Amino acid sequence: MKVGILTSGGDCAGLNAVMRAIALNLYTTEKNVEVIGFRNGYAGLIRGDAVPMRRADFEGLLRAGGTVLGTTRTPFKLMSVPEADGTTRLAKMVASYKKFGLDCLFTLGGAGTHRTAALLCAEGCNVIGLPKTIDNDIYGTDVTFGFHTAVDVAADALERVRTTSESHGRTMLVEIMGNKAGWLTLYAGIAGGADVILLPEIPFSIDKVCAAVQAAYASGKRCAIVAVGEGAVLDSEAPFKRRERVFIRAERGETTVTRHLAEVIGQRTGAETRATVLGYIQRGGEPSAYDRVLCTRLGSYAAQLCRRGMFGVTVAVSGGKITFNALPDIAGKYKFVDPNGEIVRAAEETGISFGR
Ligand code: F6P
Repeated sequence: MKVGILTSGGDCAGLNAVMRAIALNLYTTEKNVEVIGFRNGYAGLIRGDAVPMRRADFEGLLRAGGTVLGTTRTPFKLMSVPEADGTTRLAKMVASYKKFGLDCLFTLGGAGTHRTAALLCAEGCNVIGLPKTIDNDIYGTDVTFGFHTAVDVAADALERVRTTSESHGRTMLVEIMGNKAGWLTLYAGIAGGADVILLPEIPFSIDKVCAAVQAAYASGKRCAIVAVGEGAVLDSEAPFKRRERVFIRAERGETTVTRHLAEVIGQRTGAETRATVLGYIQRGGEPSAYDRVLCTRLGSYAAQLCRRGMFGVTVAVSGGKITFNALPDIAGKYKFVDPNGEIVRAAEETGISFGR
């Protein structure tokens, strides 16, 4: 059996652990196994840039951060557009798949990666996807690998921010990754004890946020912590399309709402206010113990599917069980926070404001 692996899109903790689980499962259960890794995601498949990987190459990867194969973002919309040589990237990938004589290609990635994986399936390639992203926004799975590690990092950062904010009696805005979906901000905000949580799914009113900040001080707290999702939206911005919002913010020299909000909160409440952007530390470093277990389960299950000849699917978690979805059923779809769902309500009913 000859299989290929690639990691595509923004990285996260656990990519190496998943590759390790796939490979070790196959090496343990099959007699003749050959594994190759494509460098830098679909770019490696397009160029036919692959490296043979032995069993020993996967040992020691359980806790390693990043991806040993490298990754790139290769926009889905460009896959079927002819390049200068007249062929498409899709055609080049199919040619590589055939040239290397693969029985299966494992694609570790997010929503965009799955869309391209579905294209490859439609062209007759045997593909199995694995759900990666700190954003936890892949449709059809309760959880993605890398998410809980990022939650741990962001919640820990909120706790650190709290102690310095208490010392100074400050309001602190902490921007957390997640452009489209607010899962990471929601979980980290709850786990990190934020007073206000702002998500892309729940447009917020500045008046309500300021009132919540003032209420935090009035209740005797020495600081107020606002967890701001990267994609959080002001209620006045909500009627605009994403692209239009980007334009409006660019006029203020911003890509997110965080600094503008910090300024307004400072002016209106009179409390010293600062903003901090957590950024890529949420994606780096070793996977948490939870993610190491999840990665092992997902990777091992993906290898089982491969041995059973189940292709054109992506591995998923549903109700605590590892399962799979057909790639065409989930490709291009996202999973968003339900503004009236149980988690948001639980948080709101313990006094956390969502600015609405
Ligand atoms: O998709 C994961 C993610 O980390 C988002 O939360 C964030 O908006 C984006 O990637 C950043 O992407 P890049 O690595 O291209 O800067």
